Amino acid sequence: MSLGLGVIGCGSVFAGPYRGMIESLRVAGRVHVAAVYDVDDAKRRGAAAHFDVHPDLLGPDQVVAASDVDVVLVLTSMNEHGPLAKAALEAGRHVLVEKPMATSLADAAELVELSRASEGLLVCAPHILLSPTFRAVHAAVRDGQVGDLLTARARYGWAGPWWAEWFYEQGGGSLFDLGVYNITSLCALFGPAKRVTAMVGVAVPERDVNGRRIEVEADDNAHVLLDFGDARFAVVTTGFTMQRYRSPAIEVYGSEGTVQLLGDDWAPEGWELWRNADGAWRVFPEPDPHWQWTEGLRHLVDCVETGRPTVTCPEHAYHALEIVLAAQAAGRDGVARPIASGFPDPIYGSELVEPDAGRLAHDHRSHDGL
Ligand SMILES: NC(=O)c1ccc[n+]([C@@H]2O[C@H](COP(=O)([O-])OP(=O)(O)OC[C@H]3O[C@@H](n4cnc5c(N)ncnc54)[C@H](O)[C@@H]3O)[C@@H](O)[C@H]2O)c1
Repeated sequence: MSLGLGVIGCGSVFAGPYRGMIESLRVAGRVHVAAVYDVDDAKRRGAAAHFDVHPDLLGPDQVVAASDVDVVLVLTSMNEHGPLAKAALEAGRHVLVEKPMATSLADAAELVELSRASEGLLVCAPHILLSPTFRAVHAAVRDGQVGDLLTARARYGWAGPWWAEWFYEQGGGSLFDLGVYNITSLCALFGPAKRVTAMVGVAVPERDVNGRRIEVEADDNAHVLLDFGDARFAVVTTGFTMQRYRSPAIEVYGSEGTVQLLGDDWAPEGWELWRNADGAWRVFPEPDPHWQWTEGLRHLVDCVETGRPTVTCPEHAYHALEIVLAAQAAGRDGVARPIASGFPDPIYGSELVEPDAGRLAHDHRSHDGL
């Protein structure tokens, strides 16, 4: 039976990437759009016309309450995520919430609690841990291919959104919007962080958004230092301050080798593995160039249909949020913050990542004078 989707927030991610994912699930007979709502009349009516559903629902509560809605997608600006996801879980719906799951820890804690008690599953973006590339990197790390993890770098940035002011207002910002990806990835590899400090600020105080000059209130530039304990550190470099790059998204350095994920963690372009025992780089081309960062929706539908647990858990999203909030606070006063929360390792299930030997690439540089 096809699952009914209720969409709250019909802006840019809905009109583009999520609509594509919904379409591919719809033609497979797995979902149909049952209700849509956006506070913006034009966007709501446009989405309703596209999916041939009621154009004039009066609020998000009518989406959540609609009898044929099984799964609620929360795709609004960030400050609305927590309350909307809460209402949907309380109504027993399955929920996909875009990142961050909430903008306050109190709201996020409520969501975690509710997800444990509710009949509905809660899947929180970013969905990057689902990509075959990330899975392969995670499997290599867990298999001990690079030894004990010691240090890491991750980066994600671009010039910044031009279509919505809220990205630059309180409750927006590059850490919530971008840094959360790298933080989620690094913690999936290292486990929970123990401590955080950061430099966070506004590097471009005025921007043109929607054809209007606005003052920037929320961070657009951040370097975040994560402490995983036992002097194992990572740095996340993020911001609406990068025009282009050609560096790996994630570099993880272990006692026996190095692993790096190429491209961005939300759009991987393969990965590379150095093992001292091989004495060469193994280069793994992107296994699924068509993988989309909206795959979280397909995953949620899979889990509802099969009863399987979700790969990621709300506790992981809560941990990432605690880190982001701690980084913002440390950016204001320079004081490192302890991180209290934890989360379990992703549950990847029994399907194996295809073993692939990779292509060998030799590196003739040497640090020992040989
Ligand atoms: N744009 C991207 O590239 C991108 C990528 C990944 C994730 N995301 C996430 O997706 C979410 C949406 O981003 P976007 O770029 O589509 O933003 P957007 O501003 O284009 O769309 C958000 C929509 O939510 C609507 N909205 C706000 N409050 C609402 C409410 N209470 N009820 C119903 N609708 C409401 C707005 O009117 C707007 O149409 C954000 O959380 C963002 O972090 C964005």
